[in-house]
Amino acid sequence: MSEINGLDINAVKESFQAALKKVTNLEELDDIRVRFTGKKGDLTLLLRSLGKLLPELRKQAGQELNKLRDEIEHTLDITGRKIRESQNEKTEISERIDVTLPEKGRSFGAFHPVIQTMHEIANIMQGLGYSVATGPEQEEEFYNFECLNVPKWHPARDMQDTFYFPDGTLLRTHTSPVQIRSMLKYGAPLRIICPGKVYRRDNDTTHSPMFNQMEGLLIDKDVPFSVMKGTMSEMLNAFFGKSLKYRFRASYFPFTEPSMELDIECVECSGHDEHCRVCHGTGWLEVAGMGMVHPNVIRAGKIDPDEYNGFAFGIGLDRMAMLKYGISDLRLLFDGNVSYFMSGFEGGESRC
Ligand code: DAH
Repeated sequence: MSEINGLDINAVKESFQAALKKVTNLEELDDIRVRFTGKKGDLTLLLRSLGKLLPELRKQAGQELNKLRDEIEHTLDITGRKIRESQNEKTEISERIDVTLPEKGRSFGAFHPVIQTMHEIANIMQGLGYSVATGPEQEEEFYNFECLNVPKWHPARDMQDTFYFPDGTLLRTHTSPVQIRSMLKYGAPLRIICPGKVYRRDNDTTHSPMFNQMEGLLIDKDVPFSVMKGTMSEMLNAFFGKSLKYRFRASYFPFTEPSMELDIECVECSGHDEHCRVCHGTGWLEVAGMGMVHPNVIRAGKIDPDEYNGFAFGIGLDRMAMLKYGISDLRLLFDGNVSYFMSGFEGGESRC
């Protein structure tokens, strides 16, 4: 029997199978379930119409319809399970975690402590309105010495201290020539810093033939001495993250008058440890040279010293890095073996 009261059992079966072939997800499968076995579904209507059949036909038709209903329900269940399994598999693949991948956002390698120090101090000074200026490492005597009021007879010009090239140029012995180059380029008023490498004929436990300095220069009208002191203390407090004690000592530099050297309270022991490995019990650390710019230097920068004055400073960046990061041997900064640093960071034995 394939028809009950005009409803074709085979047609229902075929349309169910056709619909099933197109199913791709659970929602579509549910639609089919409703369409065939729901309250008004094709199969349900067939089952309901059984009562209208003659009793002798009802039994066979009933058996056929029950079989079809079982088949449909079974097929729906199996198909549903398959769809769920394949969805789980897809989610599992897309959400799978590869524990061997590097952490997100973690970069390998790091800035050298001196470069990091350079960035930190430059950021602080930029916050105080200074711009970063640059100059060549192979420099002319004129900028490195002459313009900076370093006379021909000055010992700093000695072959012992300076690396000269055969053509008379030299490797700059300090970042101070950038003061002159910046004044000539930008005029006054001016606020610049210049971080960079400098070179001297020095090589022992506390000196390296190449080291890093940061020059600072402020030129303006009526600059008082106190602005220099305030700028230096502001910068060092920000760099070390604490309010330190300062000591300005009278000194001599050909390019400044008066000249000072700045000592800060020992960042390691604050003067409380007579065996301190950093300050050797003095309680003080020398960190910078500075002073009010000599009129001859301002003049060499083609600025009128009767109208403008200012201050300049030079800081040793390697020393600042050593103080901040607790590195006790200068040579470690230029050693290619990073394990000295790494062992310190990872809690192992450190030479620093
Ligand atoms: N150029 C000096 C040096 O290399 C450091 C220095 C001292 C720079 C005093 C300055 C300064 O600008 O005013 O030792």
